[in-house]
Amino acid sequence: MPSILVTCYSRTGKTKILAESIGKGAKEVDGIDVDVLAFNRVSASDLVRYDGIILGSPVYFGGVAAELKEFIDDTTFVRGKLVGKVGAAFTTAGDRTGGKETAILSIVQAMLIHGMIVVGDPISPEANNDEHNGGHYGLAADGQLTENDLRQAEHFGRYVATVVSRMC
Ligand SMILES: Cc1cc2nc3c(=O)[nH]c(=O)nc-3n(C[C@H](O)[C@H](O)[C@H](O)COP(=O)(O)O)c2cc1C
Repeated sequence: MPSILVTCYSRTGKTKILAESIGKGAKEVDGIDVDVLAFNRVSASDLVRYDGIILGSPVYFGGVAAELKEFIDDTTFVRGKLVGKVGAAFTTAGDRTGGKETAILSIVQAMLIHGMIVVGDPISPEANNDEHNGGHYGLAADGQLTENDLRQAEHFGRYVATVVSRMC
């Protein structure tokens, strides 16, 4: 059965909450195994087992947290083994203009270097414009998480899982 891993570095828990909502949405898609794993339980070599990989980090100084960067750097040892897998990224920030897109793009950049097929965060047909966060390159939220952020995260998870199920 196709499988998806959702994991993220999270120091104060916000990004982890998004990861859980992404996982919840992904689990709604039939025929996909979804693991939402704590960051300290995942090593770069585990990624090889999954068809879809959804990685997240808080924004730290406009980029990803050093812990997530270290994890990404470790994936050099599985270079060539992630080709053709589906990838997606998410982040949380303190501020509205806090660097969410640059953080997401640095995750996406690594995924592209691995030859992964990156899925963005298209506007949900169910959401009205006031509600939508406009992730564009991946899922993003800032400030206190709202019900809408969590709904959007579930939608993102469902969407990535749907793409994985179509491709596998
Ligand atoms: C070292 C550090 C750097 C940060 N840099 C930024 C930043 O550049 N922009 C921003 O909006 N928030 C920044 N923040 C705030 C975090 O991105 C934000 O609180 C995030 O939601 C925390 O996620 P977590 O609860 O998963 O750890 C920073 C926080 C820390 C600790």
